[in-house]
Amino acid sequence: MQQQTPQDLLAIINKALEAIQFDKQPNRLYDPIRYTLDMGGKRIRPVMCLMACELFGKEPATAMPAALALEMFHNFTLLHDDIMDKAEKRRNRDCVHIKWNDNVAILSGDAMQIMAMDFLRGLPDGVFRESVAIFNRTAIEVCEGQQYDMDFEAQDHVCEADYLNMIRLKTGVLLAASLKLGALAAGASHEDAQRLYDMGLHIGIAFQLQDDLLDVYGDPATFGKNIGGDITSNKKTYLLIMAQKRADQATCAELEGWLTNTQAKPCEKIAAVTAIYNRTNAKEACQKVMEEHYQLALEHMAAVSAPATRKEPLLRLAASLMNRNN
Ligand code: IPE
Ligand code: IPE
Ligand code: MG
Ligand code: MG
Ligand code: MG
Repeated sequence: MQQQTPQDLLAIINKALEAIQFDKQPNRLYDPIRYTLDMGGKRIRPVMCLMACELFGKEPATAMPAALALEMFHNFTLLHDDIMDKAEKRRNRDCVHIKWNDNVAILSGDAMQIMAMDFLRGLPDGVFRESVAIFNRTAIEVCEGQQYDMDFEAQDHVCEADYLNMIRLKTGVLLAASLKLGALAAGASHEDAQRLYDMGLHIGIAFQLQDDLLDVYGDPATFGKNIGGDITSNKKTYLLIMAQKRADQATCAELEGWLTNTQAKPCEKIAAVTAIYNRTNAKEACQKVMEEHYQLALEHMAAVSAPATRKEPLLRLAASLMNRNN
């Protein structure tokens, strides 16, 4: 079977998302869902899911119910995440809680989460029960990660290990599950499905490290979110943890001052904290650990029992994620 290009897979996914009918009442429940799905996004989770299915020689359509569930679930998390993070822009558009309000974003998000789980019913009978278990465990873990992320905002110091565990949960496990669900739908062995899970986990950790970097150093035009949001909300990102670790006493005190300053203008705080990141080479430290996780991902992929040529699309996607600008 000829493997589809990533563009083909993206087109199939977008077509399936466009085909979901939301012309129902009440408008203020369904319009935000259509708005969110129509504002794009990279669709990496469903693409990874379909690629994992194709890796084992199955038609990508076999894994489509899981792919749609993953993208719908991801989009739901964004609606709630933007409320929690007080973010205003996503994918270069107003966030749902800004365009409508918090209550609308909460409820439309809830509906999306339920719709996500409902898609799983389309999976082959033989893998349905296990897929639901993986999906639900992943969803709970994402909640755990999101709570840690918020808890850490109020803590002065977060260690590297706790940060990495937090991003494993809030971001890593969903990319991991995307690959595993695609592999299982294709009838892959449990060993190979688990190897792909581990690959996805490390890609996901590297992906979130990159997201934290882009939040400070990204181009707002391509990134689609406001730059500096993590700094204004005192997120304990890898950049901040590294800056705290590497700074001399005076710089540490300066950083501490910005973290506890509730009167500062956001733009001043962003500029000052970014300057400290630059002085302490926090960016380079972040890039180094990102590269380490990318290499771990490659090691797990190398152990998957599938022909090398079939692995190429997933490997190319993984490489492109390390150099993304959005
Ligand atoms: C954003 O995910 C949330 C994170 C896990 C960093 P994406 O960067 O995949 O968002 P879209 O779907 O492409 O907009
Ligand atoms: C998002 O982390 C993780 C989830 C949405 C589960 P971020 O809060 O960093 O994602 P962005 O930057 O808002 O996309
Ligand atoms: Mg967040
Ligand atoms: Mg956020
Ligand atoms: Mg972010």
